[in-house]
Amino acid sequence: MINIPKGTKDVLPQDSYKWQFVEEKAREIAALYNVKEIRTPVFEHTEVFLRGVGDTTDIVNKEMYTFLDKGNRSITLKPEGTAGVARAFIENGMASLPMPVKTFYITPCFRYERPQAGRLREFHQFGVEILGSSAPETDAETIAMAKEFLNAVGVTKLTLKLNSIGCKDCRPNYEKALREYLKGRYDELCDLCKDRYERNPLRILDCKNEECKRIIAGAPKIADFLCDDCKKHFERVKTLLTGVGLEFTIDPDIVRGLDYYTKTVFEFVSEEIGAQGTVLGGGRYDRLIADLGGSDVKGIGFAAGIERLLLVLENSGKQIPEKSGVKIYFAPMGERESEVAFTLAEELRKKGMVAETDIVGRGIKSQFKYADKIGAEYVAVIGSDELEKGKANLKKMSDGSEKEVDFRDIYEFIK
Ligand code: HAM
Repeated sequence: MINIPKGTKDVLPQDSYKWQFVEEKAREIAALYNVKEIRTPVFEHTEVFLRGVGDTTDIVNKEMYTFLDKGNRSITLKPEGTAGVARAFIENGMASLPMPVKTFYITPCFRYERPQAGRLREFHQFGVEILGSSAPETDAETIAMAKEFLNAVGVTKLTLKLNSIGCKDCRPNYEKALREYLKGRYDELCDLCKDRYERNPLRILDCKNEECKRIIAGAPKIADFLCDDCKKHFERVKTLLTGVGLEFTIDPDIVRGLDYYTKTVFEFVSEEIGAQGTVLGGGRYDRLIADLGGSDVKGIGFAAGIERLLLVLENSGKQIPEKSGVKIYFAPMGERESEVAFTLAEELRKKGMVAETDIVGRGIKSQFKYADKIGAEYVAVIGSDELEKGKANLKKMSDGSEKEVDFRDIYEFIK
C-alpha cells in the first residue's frame, strides 16, 4: 500500500463540488471585474523565485521544492503565483497591451512546510494580478474585488488588515532605524536573521522563531518612516475603501512573507480556523517586473488559499450547494430492455438532462437501491410491457407517486 505524500490531499468525487463552487465564484467575480485568466507552468526556472519572491524569505530559504532536471537545470515547483505571472508578462511582451493588464489564475502551489490544519505542502490558490498601474485606485479595486470574492463564497466574519511598507525611497530609512534597534541584540537573533540583518532587515519582522519574535516586538514601525508619496498613496487607498463601506484595521505588523511588496499590503483574516487564519493576502509590487528584467511596470494582486476557505466554511457550518444530480434512472429488466434503457438515457443526456441506467448488470431490486443511493429523482422500470407500449411508469422517489409517460415525452415531463 503506497500512501499519499505528507502535506497533500486527494479531492474525492463526493467533495469535488465544493471546489467547483469556489472556483466558479472566482471565475464569476473575475468576469465582473473584467479580469482574464492566465495559465503559467507549474514549474519555473528557480531563478524566477530567487529574484521574484526574494532570497532572504522563508519561502525561498526553506520551503521550495527545487530539483535538477535531467538537463541539469535548476527547476522549482511554484510556491506562489505572482512571480510566474510577472515572468510571463515580460516574456510575452504584455507591456504593449492596453494597461492595466488584469489577470487571474487558479493553481496548485508547493511549499515544504510543517503540515497542520490549513497548512499543506501542496495547496491551491485563486490569485489576481493587475499590472500596469501605480494609482491607488487600482489598490482599492483589487481589495474590493478580493472582498467580493470572499462574500460570494460565503466567508464572512473576516478582518481586513491593511498596512503600507513603503518604497525604495523611504524603506532604507526604516531599515537603518531597524538595524539601529537590533544592533544591541544581534547575537540573540537566529542564524537566518543574522544574515537578514545586513541583507534585508525587514524580513526579520516576519521570522517565525520565538526569540526573534520577542526581540522584534518593540521595534520601530514602518508607518512612521513613510515618504510623502507613500503616505499620500496610502491615505487615498483608505479613502476609497471607506467610500465603498469596506471596513479595515491598520496593522503596522503586517509585512508579508515575500520580498516583492511595496506600499500597500493587506490580509483577510478569519477567526474560525485558528493559527492559519489568513485566508487571503496580497499587496502592491512596484519593482517586481523591473527586478525580473522587464520595464518599469507596477503591479498589485492577491491570492486566496482554497483549502483555507473550505476550512472556514466547514468550521462555520456553511453548506455549499451541491449541483442537482440524477434526474432519472432507467431500470431495465433484461437484455433487450437494457438496449432501450441505454437509448432513452442517451437521448436525455443529448438534451442536457442527467440520466443513468444500469451498466453493471444488477438485478432489479438492487437497481432500486442504487437509484436511491445516487439520489435519482425518478426511477422508471423498463420491462417487456413498457417496450410494447412505448411508455414508462415514472416513479417519483420523494413521494412515491407514479405517472405513465410516453417514451418521447419523458424529457418534457421531467423538465
Ligand atoms: P501568501 O500570503 O504567501 O501570498 O499566500 C496567499 C494565500 O495562500 C494565504 O493567505 C493562504 O490562504 C494560502 N496559503 C499559503 N501557504 C499555504 C499553505 N502552506 N497551505 C495552505 N494554504 C496556504 C502569496 O502567495 C502571494 N503570491 C499573493 C499575492 C498575489 N500578492 C500579490 N499578488
